[in-house]
Amino acid sequence: MTLLEVENLEVEFRSGGGWVRAVDGVSFGISAGEVVGLVGESGSGKSVTALSLARLLPSPPARYAGGKIILGGQDVLELPESRLRSIRGGVVGYVFQDPGASLNPVSSVGAQILEVLRVHRRDKANAAEVVRLLQQVGISAPETRARDFPHQLSGGMQQRVTIALALAARPRLLVADEPTTALDVTIQAQILSLLRDINRDLGMAILLITHNLGLITDMADRVLVMYAGQIVESGPAKEVLQHPRHPYTRALIRSVPQLGLDVARLTAIPGAPPSPGAWPGGCRFHPRCPEVREDCRVEVPALARVTNDPASRFSRCPYSSG
Ligand SMILES: Nc1ncnc2c1ncn2[C@@H]1O[C@H](COP(=O)(O)OP(=O)(O)O)[C@@H](O)[C@H]1O
Ligand SMILES: [Mg+2]
Repeated sequence: MTLLEVENLEVEFRSGGGWVRAVDGVSFGISAGEVVGLVGESGSGKSVTALSLARLLPSPPARYAGGKIILGGQDVLELPESRLRSIRGGVVGYVFQDPGASLNPVSSVGAQILEVLRVHRRDKANAAEVVRLLQQVGISAPETRARDFPHQLSGGMQQRVTIALALAARPRLLVADEPTTALDVTIQAQILSLLRDINRDLGMAILLITHNLGLITDMADRVLVMYAGQIVESGPAKEVLQHPRHPYTRALIRSVPQLGLDVARLTAIPGAPPSPGAWPGGCRFHPRCPEVREDCRVEVPALARVTNDPASRFSRCPYSSG
């Protein structure tokens, strides 16, 4: 069953006298219970896409210039502000990179969870449910921890609390935007295994944004690869990462560390990704593409189905026969 359908999303930011486009015609869907990975270098538009799902970008400076977001049957970009509150948290919940910034420093973690329950699940707004949620995210001695303030907890514990806060509202989709980037490696693994349990036990769909491609192979059903505001490749996670079609996906795989791969063999992608407003003509990746051809400088490639693959795969490179 389709939980989320994003069609041709365009997001712009006010800049000087005009508008600069950061997300440019992004389309994808997420089914109930599905885990979808979203990858790409910094600045490619991953967070802007993710925040748009609940219309969380402040406007101005942002504006939704075009497209449609249908989430849980509701047309997010057309909803009045008053109806957005039930979408935020109740349909889509967020976990961000910096747990400290997501928590209220002057309120105990138990009180913060209780507040979410009051708003989204009035019948469960009690201490027992707070303790159950803290337990569910793997926090020991939850009765005691509920009285702690965020600064009394480690980064890993804080991130568990932000996940508990998201779960408290019972969203159908959890967006995890680089949820482990700020944590050390052993804690990262624990948080990820928690997200995996949540998906398996609660059947909650997850949109996982991460630089860790090994993780995407492990956890995600499908993956979307973003570059310069567009999706350049998509398909089943394992297939895309084992047999990438788009030269950008190939370059990205070579550039990030992966489990079992020698770090010394990493190859940085030459140059830097272009900023919104400075996207090159033709294929946006052409100035950095090791496989560039003359056409690529002028022809604008469409995201097209890769026909000779069994599953549904798409690539924005006409030469990406693999
Ligand atoms: N609040 C903002 N104001 C202006 N521009 C922004 C803002 N947020 C993001 N952008 C622009 O959108 C681009 C994509 O950002 P983002 O989605 O955060 O990238 P990432 O893929 O690293 O998550 C940025 O490079 C930036 O130019
Ligand atoms: Mg981001």
